[in-house]
Amino acid sequence: MTEHRPVTEATASPVKVPTLPDAQTVTEVQHYTDRLFSFRCTRPASLRFRSGEFVMIGLMQTDPKTGKEKPLLRAYSIASPSWDEELEFYSIKVPDGPLTSRLQHIEPGDQIILRPKPVGTLVHDALLPGKRIWFFATGTGFAPFASLLREPQTYSDYDEVIITHTCREAGELTYGAGIIDNLKDDELLNEVIGEGFWKKIKYYPTTTREESPKMGRITDLMRSGEAFEDLGVPPLNPETDRAMICGNLAFNLELKEMLEEYGLEEGANSDPKTYVVEKAFLD
Ligand SMILES: Cc1cc2nc3c(=O)[nH]c(=O)nc-3n(C[C@H](O)[C@H](O)[C@H](O)COP(=O)(O)OP(=O)(O)OC[C@H]3O[C@@H](n4cnc5c(N)ncnc54)[C@H](O)[C@@H]3O)c2cc1C
Ligand SMILES: NC(=O)c1ccc[n+]([C@@H]2O[C@H](COP(=O)([O-])OP(=O)(O)OC[C@H]3O[C@@H](n4cnc5c(N)ncnc54)[C@H](OP(=O)(O)O)[C@@H]3O)[C@@H](O)[C@H]2O)c1
Repeated sequence: MTEHRPVTEATASPVKVPTLPDAQTVTEVQHYTDRLFSFRCTRPASLRFRSGEFVMIGLMQTDPKTGKEKPLLRAYSIASPSWDEELEFYSIKVPDGPLTSRLQHIEPGDQIILRPKPVGTLVHDALLPGKRIWFFATGTGFAPFASLLREPQTYSDYDEVIITHTCREAGELTYGAGIIDNLKDDELLNEVIGEGFWKKIKYYPTTTREESPKMGRITDLMRSGEAFEDLGVPPLNPETDRAMICGNLAFNLELKEMLEEYGLEEGANSDPKTYVVEKAFLD
């Protein structure tokens, strides 16, 4: 099932470069907090994906039993849009996490492993047409939306794009705020969708454990009506609104229940409906 494809051409250089299966080269790394960083890497020529999908990425590790090198892989949302010539990822740093305790130390020029088999439900194909799309994220759950917010289809399909991001601390909003800020100058989107396309976006960042301009869980802010008042939109309606959810398990479950109370129904690639959901991490 797994494909072992050396990408370093042994003939391309007189120097013997070590080869990894499905290796890609890191081109840029940025750290935001002691728990969060993003990085960019080369994109395999064969990789086609839909904005919002995830792939398996990782590093080689030594198997303690056999002493052999083998890949240690984890699911990661591709944070860059489908048209980008490089790939971007937004990552947690778990101090004792098997992968991220090491991945957090990568630098430009290092190699990572990337299995070129994209999958996922946070894709436009899994939703029926609508007027307004809601992207609901907590923590690193912002990653698939970093891709979809840079995807022209998001703006050609919808009149309004609402992105909510709930984190514990204000510093955890930095990556997402930067993506949104840079959209205004995105050449492709300005050209394809038209100047001023970004006026369709409503960004609603909130924190729960550190002071910031808007405090509280998005679920609570929706229940009280405060979020709708702040955003100047009515509560979700299955006639007009579509939604994608990506956060921790409890958040996903709570929000799913709320969306179903509004009358939205969960869709899938094979059966598009009015909302879709994916975990930002396993537990
Ligand atoms: C579909 C899917 C997409 C994912 N996309 C991303 C992504 O884009 N960016 C990303 O950083 N992670 C993502 N993850 C999580 C990722 O697969 C790994 O769990 C993460 O990289 C940590 O790996 P690890 O080996 O260091 O620790 P693990 O053993 O995998 O995790 C250790 C513990 O750390 C916590 N944890 C793991 N991931 C996160 C996280 N993202 N945020 C907060 N706490 C976490 C959990 O409590 C977990 O039990 C995704 C997971 C799934 C299922
Ligand atoms: N973020 C940190 O600074 C930090 C530091 C050290 C360790 N950790 C550990 O890392 C793991 C992941 O932490 P994380 O902060 O990335 O993710 P998280 O615990 O999933 O929290 C992210 C955001 O989601 C909110 N949230 C959680 N459940 C929700 C629900 N049911 N409905 C609405 N909002 C909800 C949280 O609000 P609440 O704050 O109200 O829960 C928080 O603002 C945790 O095990 C944590 O103990 C985190």
